[in-house]
Amino acid sequence: MNAQQDQRLSQDTQAAFRDAMRRFASSVTIITTCDDGRRRGMTATAVTSVCMQPPSLLMCINRYASMHQALDRSRLACVNFLHAHQAELCSIFSGPLDAEQRFMHGTWQTGALGLPFLPEAQASVFVRLKAQLPIGTHDIFVGEVIDAHVNHQVAPLLYLDGTTLPLERPWPTAVRRR
Ligand SMILES: Cc1cc2nc3c(=O)[nH]c(=O)nc-3n(C[C@H](O)[C@H](O)[C@H](O)COP(=O)(O)O)c2cc1C
Repeated sequence: MNAQQDQRLSQDTQAAFRDAMRRFASSVTIITTCDDGRRRGMTATAVTSVCMQPPSLLMCINRYASMHQALDRSRLACVNFLHAHQAELCSIFSGPLDAEQRFMHGTWQTGALGLPFLPEAQASVFVRLKAQLPIGTHDIFVGEVIDAHVNHQVAPLLYLDGTTLPLERPWPTAVRRR
């Protein structure tokens, strides 16, 4: 295979992967940190739990995002799982506003480790960073959970097929767990 064919294959794979991921529903979060007394926040969906012993989660952060440098320094983060009604915050924290202007939207408080959190989010998980792994354009940050603030209502804001989607009870189809 020559270099041109190689490149075509890689572009095809990227396009197919992007299409595949459009079918993968994820919860929308806002990751926050406090870097040298300054609040930072960014919308992210590449977040998942890793394990319970110790309680850990991971976040994939683009190295060009301002959050990357902030996390590199603070080594602390709060992951806010957005509520179905918080779609506006998803846009604001992924848009052109600077850090402090972003925090003018939403009701923010200071929680564990001095980190900004959204009491009206579904849940906020506070972590201390323990590991960092570079993969292509992103770094995977693994955080150990220090504290969590949980709201009673389960009503996530999802991201699916390039758009946000509120999911509230009654669920579209009831799924029973054994
Ligand atoms: C729904 C959604 C999910 C996103 N998920 C991530 C993510 O998981 N990791 C990431 O690095 N950027 C993600 N982004 C992009 C960042 O939110 C966006 O680039 C942001 O503007 C970066 O912050 P900055 O402008 O302060 O550098 C996502 C954007 C949207 C709209």
